[in-house]
This record gives sequence, structure tokens and C-alpha cells, in this order.
Amino acid sequence: MRLKKTLKLFSDLTVYLITGANRGIGLEYCRQLKTRGDDVIATCRSSSLDLDDLGVRVEPGIDLTSEASVLNFKEKLNEVQIDVLILNAAIAENNSFECLEKESLRRQFEVNALAPLNFTKTMVSNLREGSKVILMTSRMGSIEDNSSGGSYGYRMSKAALCMAGKSLSIDLKPRGISVALLHPGLVSTRMTGFTQYGVNPSESVNGLLKRIDSLSLDTSGSFWHANGEILPW
Ligand SMILES: NC(=O)c1ccc[n+]([C@@H]2O[C@H](COP(=O)([O-])OP(=O)(O)OC[C@H]3O[C@@H](n4cnc5c(N)ncnc54)[C@H](OP(=O)(O)O)[C@@H]3O)[C@@H](O)[C@H]2O)c1
Repeated sequence: MRLKKTLKLFSDLTVYLITGANRGIGLEYCRQLKTRGDDVIATCRSSSLDLDDLGVRVEPGIDLTSEASVLNFKEKLNEVQIDVLILNAAIAENNSFECLEKESLRRQFEVNALAPLNFTKTMVSNLREGSKVILMTSRMGSIEDNSSGGSYGYRMSKAALCMAGKSLSIDLKPRGISVALLHPGLVSTRMTGFTQYGVNPSESVNGLLKRIDSLSLDTSGSFWHANGEILPW
């Protein structure tokens, strides 16, 4: 306990750990956090020139579906305290009703729902009273908002992630840890084929950081759009 306090005293900066940080929204989180002076630990399967250029602590070689890789990282992290854990990494595959490939559904469930939950469980001893867990979900995981069908694997996995987040918000409350489920909006990244209809990552992350900054135990366990709107489950 005393060691943990001492480690925290070494740095008064807020420590953010972000998964899937080599590109897209994860990379933009790192960029904006670094710019505003926060301490960033960026995890990824493999780094990118853009991430390396930021000058943050980069932890490559972390596949979130590999228990060994997550445990190795946990050992390396040791007693470092994390103030904000952002579970951002995910995949989206196209599953229409006519094309329900079981392996694809399973893969999305593994990466998008199970991996963030397992990673949070593994890292929980690095969190402290006042820490925040941010689950990057999607409006496509909202049952009430689903008016177009399809995308079975992605929708189902994000709905499961929302449920995991709600339970986490209840289970972690006694430890003083708050949890948010955040939808970034439609964002122009590789996941969306760099759609021209999306906002750029910079605009999205600007809103997401406002949600994260204002998150408290009182508001823990809700599902927000980056723009501040509360979304239906
Ligand atoms: N873009 C949107 O419009 C949108 C909308 C709603 C929700 N979201 C959510 O926002 C988050 C970020 O999305 P994005 O648009 O930035 O996606 P992206 O550009 O496709 O980036 C996805 C990130 O996840 C990483 N990743 C995938 N599988 C992984 C695994 N097994 N282990 C570790 N990392 C893995 C990727 O790493 P590699 O480079 O190694 O593949 C990449 O860094 C996701 O949770 C997504 O579901 C996005």
C-alpha cells in the first residue's frame, strides 16, 4: 500500500492507459492527452509511426485476446497506478443475416466483449479510488436504437460489452471506481472505411474527453454519445 502511494507521488500527472492505440480513435486519444500534459501508456499489437512520433510510453505486442500477452504486460506494469483505463480496441466485421459465419461472430465477441472485461479484471489492482474505466462501445450495441438490423457480430458484441460495463459500474463502486460506456459518433477511421459522412477523430475525442473528465461515481454506469447525449440501452 505504502509502495503504491510512493509510486503515485513520483508523478502528479493523470495516468491514462489506452488499448488499440496505434491508429484511429485510440491514437487520437493519445495525441490529445499528450498535448494537454497527461501521462499516456499506449498499448497495441504493433506500433505505428504516428504513435511512435507522439513520444508517449508505447507497449507493443499486446493482443487483447491472448491471456499470456495480457499477463506479461500486467507483470511489466507492476505497481504503476492507472487513473483512467480506456478499453478502445475492437473489430467490426460485416455479418448480414444471409452470411452468419460463426467464427466471425465468435471473433467479434472475443475482441469486443470478453477482452475488455478480462483486461479490466487483470488490471484492477492497478486502479485506485477515483480511477475511471472507459469502455468504448457503440450505438450499434443499443437494442432500442436498432432500426436497421444486420451487423450481427458487432451489434451483439457491443450489446454484451454494455452489459459488462453496467455490472462493472456496480461491482467497482465500493472501490470508488467509476465506469462509462461511450459511443464516439460515426468517425472517419479504418473501421468505417474512412467514411466521408463521419466526423474526424479529433472532433470525436474532444467530446469523449469531456465525458471522461466529468465522469463521477454519481454518473457511473451510463451510456453516452461523445456529444453528451445519454443513449438508450
Ligand atoms: N469509428 C467509428 O465510427 C466508431 C463508431 C462506434 C464505435 N466505435 C468504437 O470505437 C473504438 C475505436 O474504433 P476505431 O474506429 O478507432 O477503429 P480502428 O481504426 O479499426 O482501430 C481499432 C484498433 O483496435 C485494435 N485491435 C483490434 N483487435 C485487437 C486485438 N485483438 N488486440 C489488440 N488490439 C486490437 C487495432 O489494432 P491493429 O492495428 O493491430 O489491428 C486498432 O488499434 C472501437 O471500440 C469501436 O468499436 C467506432
